[in-house]
Amino acid sequence: MDETQSKTSPRGVPTLQVKNLHKQYAGTEVLKGVEFSIDKGQVKAVLGPSGSGKSTMLRLMALLEPADQGQILLNGVQLNGEEVNGVPRHVPERKLAVRRRAIGMVFQKFNLFPHMTAIENVSSGLINVLGISKNDSRDQAAAMLERVGLGDRSNYFPAELSGGQQQRVAIARALVMNPEVMLFDEPTSALDPELVGEVLQVMEDLANSGMTMIVVTHEVRFARRAADEVTLFDSGVIVEQADPENFFENPQHKRTRKFLSHVH
Ligand SMILES: Nc1ncnc2c1ncn2[C@@H]1O[C@H](COP(=O)(O)OP(=O)(O)O)[C@@H](O)[C@H]1O
Ligand SMILES: [Mg+2]
Repeated sequence: MDETQSKTSPRGVPTLQVKNLHKQYAGTEVLKGVEFSIDKGQVKAVLGPSGSGKSTMLRLMALLEPADQGQILLNGVQLNGEEVNGVPRHVPERKLAVRRRAIGMVFQKFNLFPHMTAIENVSSGLINVLGISKNDSRDQAAAMLERVGLGDRSNYFPAELSGGQQQRVAIARALVMNPEVMLFDEPTSALDPELVGEVLQVMEDLANSGMTMIVVTHEVRFARRAADEVTLFDSGVIVEQADPENFFENPQHKRTRKFLSHVH
């Protein structure tokens, strides 16, 4: 078993922590030393202008892309690198694939496999990554579809589902892997307004069930209702973090006040 698979974090150690995270694309620095942490069962909402690096931060946290510099730690153990006898070493892809399972990610555009039914989408990771039998995977996937309110849509293809239903399938697909942290990247931004509520409801239920969640969103009402802490991300750094009441009613930074004046 990989040392990062432990389900309990030592006392006082955040579930997920990012230290001094840097990333650049073609010479442009997109992340400029991000510091972020989340404790078990916490829900953090991340707000911020378009192009500020929010998606990049999530992709790095999900180990979908390498950081240029900085650490990503799960329960105090570094995920995005390792040291052998004190010498930093690249983590081989095989090991990264194992570590990735601890972190579930939901994208703005759902990213479902179009040629697979809902239940095949949800069970594919169990079969192909975890090596669970087809029958057991189907049972687990069916239970997870039930949980997101789609028990009766198991055999539908993505194109036969509404955007809200597709996004709920995507949430089920991430959840069925039993991740320690769920990352959401503007999960309702691609939806018609009348479909936003059903997805937020599933996310709120998940938050109430104790899931550790980082949610990049523009949904101020969701942030107020479901988040323990709200963060403003701008120009590759975290500007402000506070509980929802203080964040929205009494922001300390000028950039936060300016941002809120546009979204309110
Ligand atoms: N794979 C990539 N290659 C080149 N530039 C990228 C890539 N991903 C993101 N960027 C650039 O990084 C900046 C931040 O993007 P992103 O993380 O998507 O911001 P946000 O999610 O806050 O809108 C943007 O200027 C974007 O064009
Ligand atoms: Mg984005």
